[in-house]
Amino acid sequence: MGTGEKGTLYNAGYENRRNLGGEGVRLGERMVPGPQLSERARRERAVLLRSVDTRTVNGGASLVRRSSMTATPETPVPLSAIEAAARTIAGKVQRTPLVRAPQFPGFPTTEIYLKLENLQWTGAFKLRGALNKILGLSPEEAARGVVAASAGNHSQGVAWAARARGIPATIVMPENASPLKVSRTRALGARVVLHGADYEEAHEHSMRLAAETGATYVHPFDDAAVIAGQGTVGLEILDDLPGVRRIVVGVGGGGLLAGIAAAVRGRGSTADLVGIQPAGADTLRASLAEGRVVVGSRPTTFADGLATRHIGNLPLQILQASKARALVADDRTIARASFLLLEHAKVLAEGAGATPLAGVIEHSELLADGPVVLVVSGGNLDPFVLDRILFIGLAAEGRLLRVRAPLKDVPGALEQFLDVARTEAANVRHILHGRESPDRPPGEVTVEVELEVRDAEHGEQVLRAYRDRGWPVERVSLGSGPTNPLTSPPSRA
Ligand SMILES: Cc1ncc(COP(=O)(O)O)c(C=O)c1O
Repeated sequence: MGTGEKGTLYNAGYENRRNLGGEGVRLGERMVPGPQLSERARRERAVLLRSVDTRTVNGGASLVRRSSMTATPETPVPLSAIEAAARTIAGKVQRTPLVRAPQFPGFPTTEIYLKLENLQWTGAFKLRGALNKILGLSPEEAARGVVAASAGNHSQGVAWAARARGIPATIVMPENASPLKVSRTRALGARVVLHGADYEEAHEHSMRLAAETGATYVHPFDDAAVIAGQGTVGLEILDDLPGVRRIVVGVGGGGLLAGIAAAVRGRGSTADLVGIQPAGADTLRASLAEGRVVVGSRPTTFADGLATRHIGNLPLQILQASKARALVADDRTIARASFLLLEHAKVLAEGAGATPLAGVIEHSELLADGPVVLVVSGGNLDPFVLDRILFIGLAAEGRLLRVRAPLKDVPGALEQFLDVARTEAANVRHILHGRESPDRPPGEVTVEVELEVRDAEHGEQVLRAYRDRGWPVERVSLGSGPTNPLTSPPSRA
């Protein structure tokens, strides 16, 4: 172990990892006891310990050097490191806008602002941390290249930054990673290895690759240089809106929220800092409550950017010191938030980027006072997922109507049926004309039509028009009843 500032910083992180979920965790001077380890927790701890050992070799030196200015265990990422990061990446990233959000339907009049990191060059804030880390490598480290693991956005950030530095990058992505994110990472020149069922398994494999090749492992969130890069988002928010009262951020490993927290607290702001996680990847609440990194089970959320099993040690230290809070939102509300952003703010947000809006939908007390900034952290939405979100959103707002009716199997019957939709100005999206049904006698067919209507009232009017003209139509459910997230967000205890 080293001594002085260098040793202090690195050893603090190392102590936490050594103790993860076992003997306890050191937070500043305090030792927080850990629970008994289950078999799975023991295995996961072993993976994390291996990751630390390898980083000691590959990533430790640059991490310590960049943070040694005024870093202490309590402030592992000082304001000076974030301001230095801002200078390092200036001109190499997009200075993203902070825009006033429109009045979303049913929302209070609180001022809401959107920090549009979906407009970042790689479609997510991740470029900031990756650039700060990779531009800070020594020439010898850079020559050996970099390795990273990620479900998508960190991959693109690392690939972009490695290309900017002119060094090779190998990225391990889970086998089920979004095809869009895989192809974009390849297009940026990185070698992509698909491995493992989730981020954690990809991470484990990438650590092995780093150990074999001597390349520097670029951690997506548990690295002081990466966190400092993400913290530049916080500096920009404060520059644009010094009076911000609350900043709401989606949390995976906690690097983004921790960077923002370190920046805003470093500048003396008392803004309320709120991290939102999907219900299927909810570990920050427990980690803050227990004062240690709590490892969850395999995440279940469509917001792939937030699908991590645990937050990082450095983020946890920073979030505790900055009194950040954690809340949870349901995936269905996240889909609703993504739809609302697109429809009303003209902003394309992937699940992770829409999660802060989902958070304030489910926890309306967050809008009691403002200004509130929602960090739209990314916009890399797979087109097929976007298609689902649009369908769910339109159905929930009553803007799709699906009807089914029996028709005589004679020429012209379908035309007469569709004529009702035409006279009611309802546009046809899909038609299913089914002859082979055991329930229908010969001479009859079933037709099912999906129509675009203006709103729920117009849908009712179209249904009435069919019935008035003698068609025995039935309405086919699109899931827009009370269980649909876009019409009724789930209540949370
Ligand atoms: C779009 C987006 N938002 C938020 C996050 C969460 O960031 P962090 O892991 O630093 O909490 C990620 C992580 O990949 C992301 O891609």
